[in-house]
Amino acid sequence: MISGARIVVTGGAGFISSHIIERLIEKNQIVIYDNLKRNALRYSPIKEHKNLTMVQGDVLDSAKLDECMKGADICIHAAAIAGIYSVGNQVTRTMKVNLIGIYNALESVCKNKVGRFMDFSTSEIYGPFSYRSKEDDVAKIGPASEKRWIYALSKLAGEHFTHAYADDFGFDVVTVRPFNVYGPRQVGEGAIQQMVSRALNNEDITVYNDGSQIRSWCFVDDFVDAFIATMESTEAVGEIFNIGNPQATTTVLGLAETIIRLTNSKSKIVHKPHPGPEVEIRIPDISKSKALLKYEPRVMLEEGLMKASAWYREFN
Ligand SMILES: NC(=O)c1ccc[n+]([C@@H]2O[C@H](COP(=O)([O-])OP(=O)(O)OC[C@H]3O[C@@H](n4cnc5c(N)ncnc54)[C@H](O)[C@@H]3O)[C@@H](O)[C@H]2O)c1
Repeated sequence: MISGARIVVTGGAGFISSHIIERLIEKNQIVIYDNLKRNALRYSPIKEHKNLTMVQGDVLDSAKLDECMKGADICIHAAAIAGIYSVGNQVTRTMKVNLIGIYNALESVCKNKVGRFMDFSTSEIYGPFSYRSKEDDVAKIGPASEKRWIYALSKLAGEHFTHAYADDFGFDVVTVRPFNVYGPRQVGEGAIQQMVSRALNNEDITVYNDGSQIRSWCFVDDFVDAFIATMESTEAVGEIFNIGNPQATTTVLGLAETIIRLTNSKSKIVHKPHPGPEVEIRIPDISKSKALLKYEPRVMLEEGLMKASAWYREFN
């Protein structure tokens, strides 16, 4: 386990980062750099831990980010505008935050001689039809007329930036591509978060189109297992990893029905046309993560939904 390191986490107040930090905080100094547009950390028991420093700042503010990066051993770069509605409402800002933000982080890592850079990409880079996608498959991104794809494009450019910087400047990098991560403290956007919250209030649940779109759902604890392995493994350096759970795969309609059943909800399912381009199928191939990281997702869908629902019941 990594210990004695100073770890700067951009977007550290976010959902996934808050879980990663919980695993690292006892044995490391953690510096969060986040503009607090979202704040999952406030629900975490470690929010006032003695090893935690919180710096409120924007990744577009390169001087402040630089200051924060001083003395860091590792940078986890998770700050991003994420979620198709947030992206749709701020397309130019998405491109700026995700692309200029990673540029600023990489420049700062170079300047401050940080040893390792952890890049968060996305499964969206596989496009609308992604069945058992492997890391070296060709990325597919729709046209500029469809706002959704700006997110995938910004993240894909971030991957290329990351690995180019590593080649040119000689520090260690790893890219992860999360596939639909969910669980306690997801307070931004996410189908499970929205459906569970509505189910608990017996409100109508929207399912777009006929609900036959297919997704694989990865419980956050499984994601963090794999992520920590990417931080520790020397074999992971310079690599890209799909992290998801192909065994927890269902249609969107099946997901809504399962959530209603598990929460004993009286919610009704309401079908609406999807407002933009849709991803019809997204299932990862995780054989590379299994082989190199010994990653084995353990939390299947109903167990994960029960854990997530218990959290939303208490906190939302
Ligand atoms: N959750 C998923 O299923 C998923 C899937 C694919 C990729 N990802 C990627 O994983 C990372 C973490 O995702 P998450 O689900 O925890 O999202 P999140 O929205 O909960 O976390 C992102 C954090 O970044 C911060 N942030 C946003 N803009 C910023 C800016 N300009 N400057 C500083 N901080 C800023 C937000 O306040 C938030 O705390 C993101 O890079 C996201 O794109 C997540």
